[in-house]
Amino acid sequence: MKKILLLLLLFSATILNGYSIDPTDPGTIYSEKDVPPYDIHDVLTTLSGEKVTTVAQWEKLRRPEILETLSTEMYGFTPASIAKVKIKIIEVNKKAINGKATRKQVELTFIKNKKKLKVQVLVYSPNKKNKPAPTFTILNFCGNQSIEADSAIVISETLKKEFDKTVLRTRKPRTVRGGDANIYPIEEIIDNGLGFATAWYGDFDPDYYDGFKNGIHGLYHKKGQKHGSNDWGSLGAWAWGLSRILDYLETDKDFDATKVAVVGHSRNAKAAIWAAAQDRRFAMCIPNNSGCGGTALMKRIYGETASSLNRRFPHWMCENFKKYINNEDSLTIDSYDLIGLIAPRPLYIGSAEGDQWADPHGEFLGMLYAQPVYQLYGIKKFPYDTMTPLGFKVIESQIGYHYRTGYHALTHFDWEAYIEFAKYHFFKPTESMIYNNH
Ligand code: GCU
Repeated sequence: MKKILLLLLLFSATILNGYSIDPTDPGTIYSEKDVPPYDIHDVLTTLSGEKVTTVAQWEKLRRPEILETLSTEMYGFTPASIAKVKIKIIEVNKKAINGKATRKQVELTFIKNKKKLKVQVLVYSPNKKNKPAPTFTILNFCGNQSIEADSAIVISETLKKEFDKTVLRTRKPRTVRGGDANIYPIEEIIDNGLGFATAWYGDFDPDYYDGFKNGIHGLYHKKGQKHGSNDWGSLGAWAWGLSRILDYLETDKDFDATKVAVVGHSRNAKAAIWAAAQDRRFAMCIPNNSGCGGTALMKRIYGETASSLNRRFPHWMCENFKKYINNEDSLTIDSYDLIGLIAPRPLYIGSAEGDQWADPHGEFLGMLYAQPVYQLYGIKKFPYDTMTPLGFKVIESQIGYHYRTGYHALTHFDWEAYIEFAKYHFFKPTESMIYNNH
């Protein structure tokens, strides 16, 4: 009996806080022939069956409907009121990255309901050319100090206290200074005339189930207030954080805030696409290996499903999303609706062969079924109907794409593509190209 209790305890602890980098949930489908049949709806037809045929109708009817449905059923609603923020520049180093960049460390203090939350933002802008610079914005997994091995980089107080509680605690060695430097090719980004802005995602909201007491949720909750069934989850909070970094970039003359590409890997890719869907100031969106809850189809049962995501990461989405555990068929929205919200802005989807958990084929299909929205804006159809050959990059297109070899990671191959894509759109805009035209 004791043994069973212990096992049960261990099991529930794994569900609430557990995490394995290469998950193998029993019963996961990894073969196309085992995928059960599933429905695809038309992204341009409203829930009441009305067909949308013009941009005006899309903007007035269908787009707000998708946003509302995704908020109610999946990510939860982002609070409309913004917390008060104080900006403190902690460091300006004009000789960063071998003298090529200006590095700034910025402390954002959010204040609401008499509570405070501090977030450390780290930004780099090129010293030569392109000032103000178009910029990548990305949430990092292991803290700003993991980006560059320099003792001047401030380590987040929350990270020092809380990292062991995050579902990523197995990545502890990467919290050392420069531990993730190989993931972020800042010098190359700077050499290409682009900027880079980042913050640790856990500074905005913790990555463990805490009843939404800490992070930005803690600030928004009034004393005794219960977390509602469609209140934002952690992904919503991280997406909110990306918009707050953009608010800062708007105040800094070294950056061109009208040309900010929001990038993200994995869970932070899910946050990036949700951020760009809600905040149209982001001029470009680049979700890398975003999987379920990102660009992969949800009704297609392959790799990670809405069921496994809900069970393993109960804090990521809103409570309503739990209705879809073993019930994906009843979803009225799918990833292509989310992707449609990025239109007409440039979008680049990066998938990997060794990342079957994220369902790369489902990520591709999500993009394909979102096409009608881009076409409504007069943008040419993505030139391929099936996944492109491994290692082939589609850059000169409003929707960029690649399917590469290798595992679930943000690799140098990915960055090369994202840099090219950003340069193509931000530095050589042609008349037929549209971004952020609202
Ligand atoms: C897990 C999770 C994925 C997520 C990934 C990550 O594998 O199931 O949904 O994308 O972690 O963030 O690395």
